[in-house]
Amino acid sequence: MRLKIVAGNWKMNLDFEEAEDLISAIADELENIDLGHAEVVICPPFPYLEMALDIAIESVFSVGAQNISHFDNGAYTGEVSARMLASMDVDYCIVGHSERRKYFNETDEIIAKKIDQAIEHEFITIFCCGELLSERQAGKHFDVVREQIEKAVFPLSEKEFYNIVIAYEPVWAIGTGVNATPEQAQEMHAYIRNLIASRYGKDVADETSILYGGSCNSKNAPEIFAQPDVDGGLIGGASLNADEFIEIVKAIL
Ligand code: 13P
Repeated sequence: MRLKIVAGNWKMNLDFEEAEDLISAIADELENIDLGHAEVVICPPFPYLEMALDIAIESVFSVGAQNISHFDNGAYTGEVSARMLASMDVDYCIVGHSERRKYFNETDEIIAKKIDQAIEHEFITIFCCGELLSERQAGKHFDVVREQIEKAVFPLSEKEFYNIVIAYEPVWAIGTGVNATPEQAQEMHAYIRNLIASRYGKDVADETSILYGGSCNSKNAPEIFAQPDVDGGLIGGASLNADEFIEIVKAIL
């Protein structure tokens, strides 16, 4: 059975004290929950990873980075390498988020290099894909998502692909309060699973976790997560409140 995952992407939010309070509150609430075959991942900003890892030792959540460098090592001021994060025992990383594509000019080629770094250092990689509103309105959303996945992920061998989690995040739904409907999410997730089956076979596709992201909250999560091809969520704004985040976690159980 494929893994159900709820991951919180904090983006560039919270000061250190706020971050520590939030992680502690989430850890406290997780003590009363049996996750079973499900995984909770918290992706704070880089400077808070060590604090998050310290709290995670006593808890059941995993810790992820929001980004990694496409370079291996060396004179790249301001970059954080996969090797560094792996040496801290960070398990997950997010690659290809639309905010990285938009504000930091990350192309499919750069994202493919990041995925190579992540795979080499054995991260579970949450690869984000998703179309713009204009692309959906033009009826190109399937083609856009297919191209993103084909360019960045499909160069991987079957063995390497086992560490990939796909997050479908329609850009028009991110931070807007307008989530994809459960039907829209299911339709795209089923399309992505078929795409994976055509490249790696049905068994691999059936084992791949495909998460939904974009204005997901405790109210809409139960219906979205109930779709057969939705295996959890990548949560932005709603992951910054412990009670709200825990309600979303409960929706995958
Ligand atoms: P919101 O949940 O704030 O829409 O953000 C989604 C997202 O981008 C998660 O990576």
